[in-house]
Amino acid sequence: MLHDLIARSRSCRRFDEAFAVERSTLEELVELARLSPSAANLQPLKYILSCDSETNAAIFPHLTWATYLRDWPGPAEGERPSAYIIILGDTKVSRNFGCDHGIAAQSILLGARERDLAGCMIGLVARDDLRETLSLPSRYEILLVLALGKPAEEIVIDPVGAEGNIKYWRDEQGVHHVPKRALSDLIVPTSL
Ligand SMILES: Cc1cc2nc3c(=O)[nH]c(=O)nc-3n(C[C@H](O)[C@H](O)[C@H](O)COP(=O)(O)O)c2cc1C
Repeated sequence: MLHDLIARSRSCRRFDEAFAVERSTLEELVELARLSPSAANLQPLKYILSCDSETNAAIFPHLTWATYLRDWPGPAEGERPSAYIIILGDTKVSRNFGCDHGIAAQSILLGARERDLAGCMIGLVARDDLRETLSLPSRYEILLVLALGKPAEEIVIDPVGAEGNIKYWRDEQGVHHVPKRALSDLIVPTSL
């Protein structure tokens, strides 16, 4: 079951924007992050929740979408995310966030997928501009933005071909293809 959930939890970048994601759903997802591991149990992450069209529209311009899809400028109006969770690092708790935000992000996205939602981690963020837009106090570092909504695209996993190309791509039908390396290519043999 976990295998299926992870396999279905692909990065989704086109949504049914008319579908509303409730704030209570975002809180449930942050609850999953709250229960996730944290280095030295410092728990330095904080979260901004957005599920109203005004705040969503303010966040959207600061995000970079699918850089491998050179001819695609990102989701058009009507297919943009219905919600965002912005993962912040609270520098009053720690200066080093390790990989806490990656773990939290995956917990949130798996929880979203379990609820028939989907999302995408966005690391390419115009951080200074987004900070200014949200009047975010300097104690918070913007670590990741999670875009969330009802998925409106088909995504399939392909094996990485012999040429080794790992770039995701979109076919003529609009299906998004994600090449994944074979398990046998990931496990490094050792000998004593
Ligand atoms: C740390 C991190 C940052 C990412 N940043 C972006 C981003 O800025 N924009 C984007 O469209 N996708 C972003 N992604 C999504 C990746 O492109 C995606 O994970 C990859 O293409 C594999 O697809 P999959 O998530 O469906 O397996 C990010 C993923 C991770 C883990």
